Amino acid sequence: MSNSKNDFALVCESIGMQFGGLAAVSNFNLQVHQGALYGLIGPNGAGKTTVFNIVSGVLRPTAGSVRLFGVDTTGLGPDEIARRGIARTFQNIRLFRNLTVLENVLVGHHVRRKATLGEALLSLPRYRKEESDMMCNATGLLQDVGLDHVANYRASALPYGQQRRLEIARALATKPKVLLLDEPAAGMNPAETERLMQLILDVRDRFNLTIFLIEHEMKVVMNICERMTVLDHGQIIAEGTPSEIQSNEKVIKAYLGGGAIARH
Ligand SMILES: Nc1ncnc2c1ncn2[C@@H]1O[C@H](COP(=O)(O)OP(=O)(O)O)[C@@H](O)[C@H]1O
Ligand SMILES: [Mg+2]
Repeated sequence: MSNSKNDFALVCESIGMQFGGLAAVSNFNLQVHQGALYGLIGPNGAGKTTVFNIVSGVLRPTAGSVRLFGVDTTGLGPDEIARRGIARTFQNIRLFRNLTVLENVLVGHHVRRKATLGEALLSLPRYRKEESDMMCNATGLLQDVGLDHVANYRASALPYGQQRRLEIARALATKPKVLLLDEPAAGMNPAETERLMQLILDVRDRFNLTIFLIEHEMKVVMNICERMTVLDHGQIIAEGTPSEIQSNEKVIKAYLGGGAIARH
């Protein structure tokens, strides 16, 4: 057993986020092991996306700290966080609607570019090599998420479920170590959700990722996450394995209004 802080991909320590008079998140603590598939659940407005915004550098927390692979990243901006290996998808899909599917993935690669603008303008070898590598890689990623057959379609022409898969491919193009997925199953039908869960498990293994996933759709978290945290009104009300969460009285009361948690 090791007690090194570096065993954790992501740690949040006593995070607080205050918007004016509203405490959107209070005393939020989290430890996600490298390679884990970790869930964050809770009712609408619980503060889930706010946690993602803090971890990905979109928001600076009003209290507490974030560590990525043992390094304090609190207050760093989104670009810097992305370079350190965090990628995310959004609750409301954010694609370049008028670009093709392939071009959307190519955009993701730019985070990792080494060639300078000068080299690009002169089309020097390093630039050309990067271009062809990116194209290869983007095509491969589209195969991985099952979108290679629509590579040249406009992103806006894809059905909703495919747009969500495209967002995942674009996030993977940044070569992340940690992937944050904000409600990836939102708007999907049961068959699409099923395929999505398989895809999430596949990419975790294939790309050696740590995945931190927000879901509203209980089935997704219960089936694929090893552990999860439950937020309600900005507070953690439970943390544990799916079976611990399913039988937790506080969760049942707060989150489900007394109903049962369906697990298929
Ligand atoms: N940038 C912001 N400014 C002010 N209030 C915000 C902001 N972002 C989120 N909130 C508020 O914080 C609370 C938590 O929101 P959010 O994190 O989006 O919840 P969830 O993702 O769990 O549905 C909500 O009351 C929301 O209105
Ligand atoms: Mg949200």
